[in-house]
Amino acid sequence: MKTLICNADVVLPGSIERTHVLIVDGKIAAVDASLNSTADEKFDARGLLLFPGVIDDQVHFREPGLTHKEDLETASRACAAGGVTTFLEMPNTKPPATTVPLLEQKYARASQVSRVHYGFYMGATCHNIQELKQATNVPGIKIFIGSSTGDLLVDDQQALETIFAETELPICAHCEDESTVRANAKKFEGITDVAIHSQIRDHEAAIIATRRAIDLACRHRHRFHVLHVSTADEIPLLPAARPWITAEVCPHHLFFSVDDYERLGSLIQMNPSIKFPLDCTQLWQGLKRGLIQVIATDHAPHLLSEKELPYPQSPSGLPAVENSLALLLHQASLGHCTYQEIASWMSDGPARIWGLVGKGRIDVGYDADLVLVDPHLKKTIRNEEQWTKSKWSPWHGETLTGWPVQTWVRGKVVYQQGQVMDDVRGERVRCDHQRGGYWATEGGIGI
Ligand code: DOR
Repeated sequence: MKTLICNADVVLPGSIERTHVLIVDGKIAAVDASLNSTADEKFDARGLLLFPGVIDDQVHFREPGLTHKEDLETASRACAAGGVTTFLEMPNTKPPATTVPLLEQKYARASQVSRVHYGFYMGATCHNIQELKQATNVPGIKIFIGSSTGDLLVDDQQALETIFAETELPICAHCEDESTVRANAKKFEGITDVAIHSQIRDHEAAIIATRRAIDLACRHRHRFHVLHVSTADEIPLLPAARPWITAEVCPHHLFFSVDDYERLGSLIQMNPSIKFPLDCTQLWQGLKRGLIQVIATDHAPHLLSEKELPYPQSPSGLPAVENSLALLLHQASLGHCTYQEIASWMSDGPARIWGLVGKGRIDVGYDADLVLVDPHLKKTIRNEEQWTKSKWSPWHGETLTGWPVQTWVRGKVVYQQGQVMDDVRGERVRCDHQRGGYWATEGGIGI
């Protein structure tokens, strides 16, 4: 099967060029403006930008066990519509993915229903070190150093030392200090204004846990990725001189602050919590300076009826997977970032960190996971139009300029003209951790 995408402004690793992209059997076979090939399918993409498909390396898709909120089918359709061609999903399902058989059940289910490519992290507990060592071809190990939705928590120092010392897979962690959060929760007990969430899960909680995790990663020389950095003060802990440590930020920590609680209430109740406007600015700077390499959503759907419960019964989490690319394209339309930065933060960065073979770039030999973007299209986010099962977005009512209009998964159109194609299935990602690492070179990851 041959597909030709003509005349798009193609976001390549080093430049943006108006050229043609030839896809043969799901892989990029040529990127060449002088191509005059015959093809089974041809798309004229003049005036549009062609990006590598987005890789969202932190999502919670709720299957098994919490499928009234979301499931792999609904979530993967939301991915396709949002230009996300690969997701890496977290283990806090019910039961949590903390054994190899439970993890493999998720892969088996995804192979039946997922419209886009998928990977699942192995969840750490204080007692599953043998399972963590046995998991293969998975992106990595997830540790909840602070608890969040579900009951995964590894707070015990000896257990953390063992995981960092004895496992081979890259590790990522939710960094909020459990003791600090519990002490703050006690101090503010009885307060039902959701804004208190940012004082319970405060700056200190995030900084203490991130410092602790980075200390472990440095001493054990273990590949480590800090999930959802939320404070300005964590950024100096992420020096580029330690190339085996990488970090991620989420759109809600870039675009919402405590000032938004009045307007949005528990819709922006998240772990880690939303912080101050200055944190948003500094996180953006952290991205620009390359200290944070990835934007991921932490897509964590809960029903609106659940979110409407009084604090602290209201659960933490918000859905975002289908809007993250548009939110960033809008920033580019305002001149706050470039299209190439977006491709680096949302495709190439996560592909390199998790060693995803064939992913993250538009280049010959790479998988044809692509998203066509109309940089001038203006559209308003509406709850009722969301693909996520939870049917809401904290950005409801916001008009953005720049939207994905067509998505390919391994050369097959999976989203076009507002429709998700139900006959397309993604594949399990292949993870090569020898070649992986953000700063990977031919010779290895340079630890
Ligand atoms: O607020 C959050 N909710 N943060 C997380 O890290 C997990 C998530 C969830 O799964 O609901």
